[in-house]
Amino acid sequence: MFFLKKKLIATALSLMAVSTMLLSGCGGDNAKKEENTNDKLVLRYAENQPEYYPTTLGAYKFAQLVKEKTNGRIEIEVYHSGKLGDEKTVLGELQQGNIDFARTSLSPVAEFDSDLNVLQLPYLYRDETHMWKVLDGEIGKNLLNGMEEKANIVGLSWYDAGARSFYIREHEINSVADLSGLNIRVQESSMMVDMVKALGANPVPIPYRETYAALEKGDIDGAENNWPSYESSEHYQLAKYYVVDEHTRVPEIQMVSKKLWDSLSDEDKKIIQEAATESAIFEKEEWEKQEKISEDKMRQSGVVITELTPEEKQSFKDAMNSLYEEYGGNAKDLIKAIQETE
Ligand code: GCU
Repeated sequence: MFFLKKKLIATALSLMAVSTMLLSGCGGDNAKKEENTNDKLVLRYAENQPEYYPTTLGAYKFAQLVKEKTNGRIEIEVYHSGKLGDEKTVLGELQQGNIDFARTSLSPVAEFDSDLNVLQLPYLYRDETHMWKVLDGEIGKNLLNGMEEKANIVGLSWYDAGARSFYIREHEINSVADLSGLNIRVQESSMMVDMVKALGANPVPIPYRETYAALEKGDIDGAENNWPSYESSEHYQLAKYYVVDEHTRVPEIQMVSKKLWDSLSDEDKKIIQEAATESAIFEKEEWEKQEKISEDKMRQSGVVITELTPEEKQSFKDAMNSLYEEYGGNAKDLIKAIQETE
């Protein structure tokens, strides 16, 4: 009886659909195309940082610009705080086209496109300005463009993430030897695993948002990150010894799924690219402000901060030098070009 009723309803519904089509005259391909271009798109953007973090503010800016430039036709919903999963999961979903946009650290993306590893080599850049010269120049553009083929994800823009340094729970870090034998959380990246091994410590690759619990349980002794992450993740409450070794600058990448990208008109692609580039300028400004605020806050909140002399910093650099051969061996010219970028 139930099935019969269901069948009758289904037949009635399909008759209604046919008559609607006939009435509106929407049978042809062209009409359909027209309808599609005017269709409202609601898309999802994944971000693992909290709501007021610079990268999340960049995401909101991006969404706002796309909405304005399309007169409300394309709406992007930002899911911050890792609501759509950790970075590795998000990248998988992006490749499948189940998530439309994301911002993640370059580290996990380099697992799919090993060319990107060059950009996160320890002590590669002289400073922030040098890094931006490289990212905004031909090298950065080519590597971002290469992602589409290598990682099956379209790279849109670089975001800033400052410099990363180590922090641990137990004691001050004055030298590489002070990290020896410790369990250090790293990003889910083979290069980061090898980097910590090179320092004589044990790498523990786990998602960012699991680090707090791992520190709390004592599964790890420490981790490494920039000032705003150290603050906003509250890792500083559990691991209060921070050494300003600034071993890497790992940029962030704003991305779009290739599946969505390939379905967009040239005009929409242009709008999205422009909005991404504009949002990156905005993120950089927000980053500069937040980096300072977080560092100041950390300096006033009981964190024990060790500054290294140039010689001490050099010993961290020397310990990590093997990575240049391992991850940059095939890219010697590129590394040279980066180092020579003025
Ligand atoms: C930074 C970055 C995050 C990343 C995290 C990590 O905080 O902004 O995207 O997940 O580093 O260490 O994993």
